[in-house]
Amino acid sequence: MDPVRTEIEGRVAVVTIDNPPVNALSAAVRAGLAAAIADAERGPAEAILILGAGRLFIGGADISEFGKPPVEPFLPDVIAAIEACPKPVVAAIHGTSLGGGLEVALGCHYRLAMPGTKLGLPEVTLGILPGSGGTQRTPRLTGLRAAAEMITGGRPVGAEAAREMGLIDRIGEGEVRTAGLAYAEELAGSAPRPTGGMAAPEAEDLSDLRKTLQARARGQVAPLVALEAVETSARLPFADGLAEERRLFHHLMETPQRAGLIHAFFAERAVAKVPGIKGVAPRDIGHVGIVGGGTMGSGIATAALLSGLRVTLVERDTDALDRARATIGKNLDAAEKRGKLKDRAAVEGALTLALDYDALSEADLAVEAVFEAMDVKREVFAALDAAMRPGAVLATNTSYLDVNEIAAATSRPADVIGLHFFSPAHVMKLLEVVVADETAPDVVATGFALAKRLGKIAVRAGVCDGFIGNRILSAYRAAADHMVLDGASPYQVDRAIRGFGFPMGPYQVSDLAGLDIGFMTRERKAATAHPKDRRPVFADALYHAGQLGRKAGRGYYDYSDDPKGREDPEVARIVAEAQEGQRAFTDEEIVRRYMAAMVNESARVVDEGIAARPLDVDVVLLHGYGFPRHRGGPMHWADAEGMDRILADIRAFAEEDDHFWRPAPLLERLVAEGRTFADLNTGGRA
Ligand code: 3HC
Ligand code: NAI
Repeated sequence: MDPVRTEIEGRVAVVTIDNPPVNALSAAVRAGLAAAIADAERGPAEAILILGAGRLFIGGADISEFGKPPVEPFLPDVIAAIEACPKPVVAAIHGTSLGGGLEVALGCHYRLAMPGTKLGLPEVTLGILPGSGGTQRTPRLTGLRAAAEMITGGRPVGAEAAREMGLIDRIGEGEVRTAGLAYAEELAGSAPRPTGGMAAPEAEDLSDLRKTLQARARGQVAPLVALEAVETSARLPFADGLAEERRLFHHLMETPQRAGLIHAFFAERAVAKVPGIKGVAPRDIGHVGIVGGGTMGSGIATAALLSGLRVTLVERDTDALDRARATIGKNLDAAEKRGKLKDRAAVEGALTLALDYDALSEADLAVEAVFEAMDVKREVFAALDAAMRPGAVLATNTSYLDVNEIAAATSRPADVIGLHFFSPAHVMKLLEVVVADETAPDVVATGFALAKRLGKIAVRAGVCDGFIGNRILSAYRAAADHMVLDGASPYQVDRAIRGFGFPMGPYQVSDLAGLDIGFMTRERKAATAHPKDRRPVFADALYHAGQLGRKAGRGYYDYSDDPKGREDPEVARIVAEAQEGQRAFTDEEIVRRYMAAMVNESARVVDEGIAARPLDVDVVLLHGYGFPRHRGGPMHWADAEGMDRILADIRAFAEEDDHFWRPAPLLERLVAEGRTFADLNTGGRA
């Protein structure tokens, strides 16, 4: 079907863009739109109305065309033709209007949006800037500062806010087509009102915004370049401003950051496409049981409550229940403050606290979040097996333990799955859906459906120690620990890793999680450790000194008078005493070793089928471990960096330590065959 069609309604030519799923401005849509405007210009209509078919106006440029040779007509030219039309052109916007979609609307002479519509210029989140006039037309409507904030932040605004800013003229009522038609009828026969002909915005000093963006950037360039583009609107005539915008747009389009951010965008959507569950109907989930109301259980309960689910939480004693109630209450307070909670009473009414598993007899799914110990988990699962109705899903939030062994404690392993949330569970977007040997496909589908309901991104993971994320984390953490054992300071390691773009270095993360967690993991693994495994004895020393991290006021850093943590000479002394070497590392070498360990383990995780594809690893690291988004994730980064270089590093490191540094077979195969991880995202396994 034609992606753009025109109908005549009275004095109005109604141009509808119909390119599912999001009416993206593909080459065919651009051509159709240009032709429709030209026809309407020549025809009898006295006004033109542009609409989107389906659930939204226009989702933006067609992102799948990025990085390929551009095809005419180009969007700026189509928008220029709309703006130059001698008849009034009205955009009637519903649902969403993003990026190039909003730019089309800005090129129209009048804009009406329906209540609840989201309007935004999210280009910087894709590593580019609005390249079809957005940086020049927006400030002419809203003033320089408002435009700069909207464009550099990339966050959409609601219809009401858009009207207050001057971005749109009106809010419609009823149905979008009817509201748009009425507006166009009103304007029929009147003169056009091109945005580009409006007065340039007044110059303003935006150095405060620039400073904020610089502080937040962590290496990302697009927001600062976008600011530069917006600022030209106050300095240059409209046509020159457009040319400058175009120049900066093309520059950003060529950056690896654009490729990384767009990879992240598509990877986040691809993770839901899991082999084996296509077309499988999930089980209905309205009532979630939770066992254990500690850090994780309370967070998971909060997430479920905020999504409108009924929750029953089981704990060991009334003290623990009181603590869970208090934690959930605090979480809800925070959600209320952020406007994420409308009906507090209803949400609290949906929560039941209990000491007995019988309370879970009607739950559709239970998530176990008790202590990380196999005997405790097995006991809990035996009790869940006895208490829950047939067809209910039994899930564990274990971080490392074998989900097959947990499932074997029940009479229904097909109903057992891992749902590995990240802390804080009501905030973090990632959910690893851990599929055990006997997990039924509709139970897997239920895990994905639940994630969607909770507003989370689910990634399928197989069973192994640590699944996708924690397993890879163990490897790159070990690489960091080895460098500290050999002479690097934990502070230097943290700085180097932040320099790469992570929000925190590994030792800051330790302080946040608590040094007891790492210690307990090391103890648990000590029995099966290889004699050549190197234990981070400096971390043990800090643990024994009671420096457990933030919660103790001291860990690697001292938090007593600085909430961000100060470097601590006492820690430096403890570490120096435990160090095995005195070697100096450059920041560059620190990053190379850290990343080599991450990529190498990621390759194993893919090769073993623990992650379905490289892109699944990327999404886990991006959303669970602070991997810098503009680098796309470790597998995308490895492709961009050159896998042969990384393999060469691993081989060089192996000359000193061939126990830890062993090239992953997949890495060797791909380098030998001249293939990339990206090839495995679309094609088969190497
Ligand atoms: N181009 C190509 N494909 C797109 C797309 C786009 N702009 N936006 C979404 N899609 C695809 C998705 O990949 C997905 O495909 P799949 O079904 O094969 O996985 C499908 O459309 C549906 O997308 P969502 O699952 O994201 O649908 P939602 O309903 O949840 O969200 C949306 C709709 C809010 C429009 C969301 O898709 C979105 O945020 N899209 C990106 C918007 C954007 O960034 N636009 C700016 C593009 S850059 C630009 O316009 C440059 C210009 O200045 C020149
Ligand atoms: P926690 O110690 O804060 O909470 C555990 C809770 O379980 C306690 O409140 C305890 O009273 C309760 N409990 C213990 N045995 C019970 C039983 N038999 N019946 C009912 N309640 C019982 O622990 P946390 O951090 O919440 O971890 C829970 C699980 O989640 C662990 O398996 C952990 O590995 C996993 N996890 C933890 C993450 C974290 O960052 N803390 C992240 C992801 C997973």
